[in-house]
Amino acid sequence: MKKKAKFIGGSMVALLLSAGLFSCSSESKDTKQILSDNVISGEMIAELTAPPFVPKPVGSRKAKKLIVHMEITEEEGTMVDGTTYMYWTFGGSVPGSFIRTRVGDEVEFHIKNHPDSKLPHNIDLHAVTGPGGGAESSLVAPGQEKVFNFKTLNPGLYVYHCATAPVGMHIANGMYGLILVEPEGGLPKVDREYYVMQGDFYTKGAYGEAGLQPFDQDKAVKEQPDYVVFNGSVGALNGDKALTAKVGETVRLFVGNGGPNLVSSFHVIGEIFDKVHIEGGSMVNENVQTTMIPAGGAAMVDFKVDVPGTFILVDHSIFRAFHKGALGMLKVTGEENLQIYSHTTKEGVYTPEGGSKKKAEAPKVALTGQAKIDAGKRIYDATCFACHQANGEGIPNAFPPLAKSDWLNSDVNRALKAVIHGLSGEITVNGKKYVNVMPAQNLTDDEVANVMTFIYNSWGNKKQDVTPDMVRKVR
Ligand code: CU
Repeated sequence: MKKKAKFIGGSMVALLLSAGLFSCSSESKDTKQILSDNVISGEMIAELTAPPFVPKPVGSRKAKKLIVHMEITEEEGTMVDGTTYMYWTFGGSVPGSFIRTRVGDEVEFHIKNHPDSKLPHNIDLHAVTGPGGGAESSLVAPGQEKVFNFKTLNPGLYVYHCATAPVGMHIANGMYGLILVEPEGGLPKVDREYYVMQGDFYTKGAYGEAGLQPFDQDKAVKEQPDYVVFNGSVGALNGDKALTAKVGETVRLFVGNGGPNLVSSFHVIGEIFDKVHIEGGSMVNENVQTTMIPAGGAAMVDFKVDVPGTFILVDHSIFRAFHKGALGMLKVTGEENLQIYSHTTKEGVYTPEGGSKKKAEAPKVALTGQAKIDAGKRIYDATCFACHQANGEGIPNAFPPLAKSDWLNSDVNRALKAVIHGLSGEITVNGKKYVNVMPAQNLTDDEVANVMTFIYNSWGNKKQDVTPDMVRKVR
């Protein structure tokens, strides 16, 4: 799938012009120290990786001249099943290729823009000390290459992104990635390292609307994304693409946030981060549940996996996770440790002292006609309304509509069964698939009869009368 490009242009000239440090202001003592401590020895081509993988650790290698070859592409990719987007990429992936350096490296950065691109692009690396983080020196037209050099002065995990006007649009289309500057001697060794980067996307169509979806500037300005995802698309880290580890291993996630707008509340459900390099810097916090990752920022999180299972990566601004795609998976295999986590050890009926308040009420006379529908509406407003909404329209991709519902109108007993016993798994309502869990409702036979009669007599449904007897039979 990846296109091979031929590049033209005076890279040597650019190299000579831009050789050396970016910074031309007077050097601080610290900077001098770094420069003298890190005399470079030899050169090497940087290994670049697509997410969720990262290049090999630097270990104890000396500072070197590190040559980076990065190619910009504009290519259509899948956002979610049936929906595509024209991504602009660094290295053919969103986020872009992971770059791994160590402090003191002299990076010779070759940036190429594929001849099929429509627009010029550039790169602003937050690891660069110099004007625009390299943006000024790297603006590159389609079919051209530019070269610039910089020295990595500060260890940390840094975002890079395109900074070509309109900057917001270039970032919104996926032009961001991470560059790691390891300290001398490298980061502490772990068993597994992965690359995860959040981004928000703005499309003309709503979430899941089929076809190639263009960028929506209005939604971007209003900061109302249709998609909030890890690694560029919905499900990029799910199913057979999930991250993996074995019980007892240590895992490090290099987590970035490309934005362009949203701040991430990064959390792994069922894990506690043993160590977090806050904001990707040198300060380490311990025993963290959720770490904030600013737009244009990053964090390194380390944790040991103690028990098997699927651990869910989310942005804990939780509607983003369950409605916009900000959900990934880490699958851990290995031996159970029932002391750390036992799973369910008992399951039974719970009868509170004095019984249920509801059942303590005096039995009601079975209602009929409008009184029954009115009573049903009160139950609906207290019980069903939050998910199925005031007018029974449901919530797209989450809760099916009750209004003009073919699922409801074609089988009353099936609908009663869902209310009484709950419902889970995939169902199709009015041609759309829904996968969710509806819990069993704690309602009396009369209450179920009333609320179902209300629903069947509202919003274009078939005006069915549901009797307590019908409910009893299903129960
Ligand atoms: Cu760009």
